[in-house]
Amino acid sequence: MVADRRPPFTPWRDGPPRFAVGLKPIEPALWLLPDTEAHTLPERALLLRDRDATHFQDETVLPAAREAVALAGRAMGLENDPSADAPPLWQLAHKVSDDLVLMMPGEEGWRVGAAVLTSPTFFSLPHAAGKTLHELHAPVPGGDGLATRIARVFDHVRPGQVLERFNWTLQAGKDRYTPDGEPLRARAQTARADEAQSLLHVRVERQTITKLPESGAVLFTIRVCIDPVAALASKEKTALAAAWHRADKAARGYKKWAVLDHLVAAALPTP
Ligand code: HEM
Repeated sequence: MVADRRPPFTPWRDGPPRFAVGLKPIEPALWLLPDTEAHTLPERALLLRDRDATHFQDETVLPAAREAVALAGRAMGLENDPSADAPPLWQLAHKVSDDLVLMMPGEEGWRVGAAVLTSPTFFSLPHAAGKTLHELHAPVPGGDGLATRIARVFDHVRPGQVLERFNWTLQAGKDRYTPDGEPLRARAQTARADEAQSLLHVRVERQTITKLPESGAVLFTIRVCIDPVAALASKEKTALAAAWHRADKAARGYKKWAVLDHLVAAALPTP
């Protein structure tokens, strides 16, 4: 954690989680830089040592993976091209903190062709590898319609555009590599209210999509920002508490927030 930092993104200001596409265009220059989570790169490099646990690539997508890394490399001003000896996305993952997912178009829709994940928010690489948008979003409330709408955006986004969206949750601890949310929930459930200040963290996912001109693939990036709730300014705490309490039953159920309620009550103001 960087001392005294403010969370770089504050999506709770827009209210409770909604299961909507919610993508907005941003300045292409802001796609990957500044990398607000660059301080996590050393920790990430340790995880990346186990390449099979953190990286997947379907052999047929190698040209698109190379294209994705070349595009990202140019956007980040990286001087060296990736070497042919290691998978392109895995190499790029040592230089940028975002998790990277390469989505390939196909007859059965958009599918995960390659991915590197070191900060998954409660899903795993084996779960995602090769899956379609519909399969991935089946557990999300309204997931079928959501997947159809995401596919439409992937079909129509133009190369050169960068689209951004956010989602967020709270968690008991600052854990970043979380393919399974259960250990965090177990920790929350057994935590005492007087531990809330040290334990409660806000987890923001900043996601972007970009179309690759040659292959027609989409690069989906996921940057995870984890900040202690205790360090938030009081007006952020108020906005976060309001968003938490306004979440509907479907959102609370999907996000499994009930185990956190006593910590939220102790660490955040009552709206
Ligand atoms: C930009 C397009 C996308 C949109 C709008 C989107 C939207 C969502 C939403 C609304 C959720 C529920 C949690 C939340 O974000 O609040 C979700 C969950 C998820 N998304 Fe996406 N998604 C997109 C792309 C993708 C892609 C490309 C992948 C590929 C790995 C993916 C994988 C997942 C997974 C694994 C979950 C968790 C599902 C579970 O609970 O098991 N999403 N997505």
